[in-house]
Amino acid sequence: MGNILILYDSATGNTARMATHVAEGAAAIPGHEVRLRSVDEATRVDVMWCDGLAVGTPTNLGLTSWKMKRFWDELSHDIWGQVDGKIACAFSSSGGWGGGAELACTATLIMLMNFGFLVFGVTDYVGKKFTLHYGAVTAREPRADEEIAACRRLGRRLAEWVAVFVDGRKELHPGPLRERG
Ligand SMILES: Cc1cc2nc3c(=O)[nH]c(=O)nc-3n(C[C@H](O)[C@H](O)[C@H](O)COP(=O)(O)O)c2cc1C
Repeated sequence: MGNILILYDSATGNTARMATHVAEGAAAIPGHEVRLRSVDEATRVDVMWCDGLAVGTPTNLGLTSWKMKRFWDELSHDIWGQVDGKIACAFSSSGGWGGGAELACTATLIMLMNFGFLVFGVTDYVGKKFTLHYGAVTAREPRADEEIAACRRLGRRLAEWVAVFVDGRKELHPGPLRERG
């Protein structure tokens, strides 16, 4: 079945906490192997191994953290052209709401698109006025129920897409296409 990598950078632990919830969400779909790796320990092998990837970054000046950017910069000549078609998404912790976490998600998705990853957002609402269109976002650590739910939903959706598009388990399609059979 599918291999799922949750890769994150975290200077003070907030994105790391999000990552554990993303991993919990991914684990809710049976049959996959889920790996949780910090950017300090992850290698090319982890990236090549995965079918689905969630990348978490602290929002730094509205963008992806320098460590996460460096990871992909340094890997680029080794993996570019070899990871096309893997499924990917993003999540980010910022200092405050409105601090640019969605921009950091989109910056991360743009970086992944450059490698040929198939990136996605999520249309679901996980609480009142709370969604994750560009990836899961929190201010500081995920604490409120809907913040934790957003992280879990992102991981779950990643695992669902891997099940559908990599494993061919069409019955796990979460969206309206499923109704069409
Ligand atoms: C260099 C730097 C730049 C930052 N830039 C932003 C920013 O643009 N917007 C924001 O809301 N928070 C910003 N922050 C705060 C972090 O995004 C925030 O503290 C986050 O929760 C840290 O996540 P971590 O614990 O995973 O490192 C910045 C922090 C640092 C160190």
